[in-house]
Amino acid sequence: MNVATKEQAAERAESARGSKLSALIYDPAFWIGERAGMAERRRSIVSQAMGSTLEIGAGTGLNFDYYPADLDGLVLTEPEPNMADRLRKRVASSGRDVEIVRAPGELLPFDDGSFDTVVGTLVLCTVEDPAASIAEIHRVLKPGGNYMLIEHVRSESERLARWQDRMNKPWGVLADGCNCNRNTASLIEAGGFDISAVEDDRWRMVPPLVKPLIYGRAVKLA
Ligand SMILES: C[S@@+](CC[C@H](N)C(=O)[O-])C[C@H]1O[C@@H](n2cnc3c(N)ncnc32)[C@H](O)[C@@H]1O
Repeated sequence: MNVATKEQAAERAESARGSKLSALIYDPAFWIGERAGMAERRRSIVSQAMGSTLEIGAGTGLNFDYYPADLDGLVLTEPEPNMADRLRKRVASSGRDVEIVRAPGELLPFDDGSFDTVVGTLVLCTVEDPAASIAEIHRVLKPGGNYMLIEHVRSESERLARWQDRMNKPWGVLADGCNCNRNTASLIEAGGFDISAVEDDRWRMVPPLVKPLIYGRAVKLA
């Protein structure tokens, strides 16, 4: 299969939902949830990146400060232009040499097996096609490569999962296409990853719909 060009990826990125306002209020809206454990979770996940590293759906760059300084390369992708603007500003003020590419998770313009680590946090809830995005993550990782992730997911409690199903549409309207009811761990496992080092957790100080979390390291199986 031919790998997409950066132009083709940017064209596909046009369908990402967002606005200047959502990009502006993203960090303040997440502030309490970040203070209540998410920032520490990001640090623990992102600081394990090694070698050549790619992040998908990097948003405003809340993970950026946690990347080790000795990576062999860091590429940040983000499809939504207002988020990408804020990301660019954050990266520019750091003075680090980082490539920022406009691309969706479903169409990554990179060769097969080109990264040791892929990072994705709170992004498979929002991509249009999570299975296609996971297939792309799998493709661009080297064999045995690490996919470091934090995702809010469908609850294991039937009662809360029913609410997540009922509220998924209105939640998505409020949160730029975010889905609160995806069974993301099963999708990652079905996509060819060992998820034995992926743990369940709870996100504190956020609405119940997005409290159930998974986080950790998924390893690409051959
Ligand atoms: C909830 S935000 C998370 C941002 C960041 N990863 C974080 O942890 O703060 C979801 C992000 O996914 C991006 N996004 C939307 N559609 C996407 C797609 N198809 N592929 C990759 N990212 C996408 C959004 O623009 C937004 O930046």
